[in-house]
Amino acid sequence: MTETDITAAMRRRRMHREFEDRPVTRGALEQMAWAATRAQQARSGVRHLVIVDDPVRMALARKVLPGFINNAPAMIVHCTDTIRAEEVLGRRGVDAATWIDAGAACAHLALMGQTLGLGVCTVTSWSDQAVRSLLHLPDHIRPDVTVAVGYVVPQPRPAAKGFRTSWHHNSFGTVFRQEAAT
Ligand SMILES: Cc1cc2nc3c(=O)[nH]c(=O)nc-3n(C[C@H](O)[C@H](O)[C@H](O)COP(=O)(O)O)c2cc1C
Repeated sequence: MTETDITAAMRRRRMHREFEDRPVTRGALEQMAWAATRAQQARSGVRHLVIVDDPVRMALARKVLPGFINNAPAMIVHCTDTIRAEEVLGRRGVDAATWIDAGAACAHLALMGQTLGLGVCTVTSWSDQAVRSLLHLPDHIRPDVTVAVGYVVPQPRPAAKGFRTSWHHNSFGTVFRQEAAT
């Protein structure tokens, strides 16, 4: 893998909301779950993944999760064991580190997806309670993020543009470069 491969993959990365009407193979879902597992994690035993590909449950997800505005046939749900997290990371770990871990898992999933012809959409606009009842999560398992997964349509609509990040140099407010464009 060259620097060009990595740069190209980062450049291609985007959210997808339109997917082909066919299931994601079990092997592909396992590779996606593996990618999420490889992502950085502050401590062991905190991360749980729920892999959903049952069409009935996916249809229900679309009904009860308002932000799930896509036709993905599968999703991977990143969850945190809050009891274990508090034991090994303390309160601040539960409130901060576990969310960083969830974000890292999303990034890994997205990159792995590209290698398999799969696209993803990170979705968090829902209530904890809705995800909890959809997946039968025990009380100490917190849903962090649902990631829609599916085969990308041949000509997807253009990706959203214009999401900016500000760069500062040595201290906040000193410009590092005028515009950090994506
Ligand atoms: C933390 C987070 C939460 C998001 N929640 C939703 C969501 O609930 N529903 C949705 O369709 N997209 C969601 N998105 C996708 C963003 O809207 C998307 O990143 C944005 O449109 C930029 O597109 P891009 O990632 O393709 O550049 C979320 C993205 C992130 C990172």
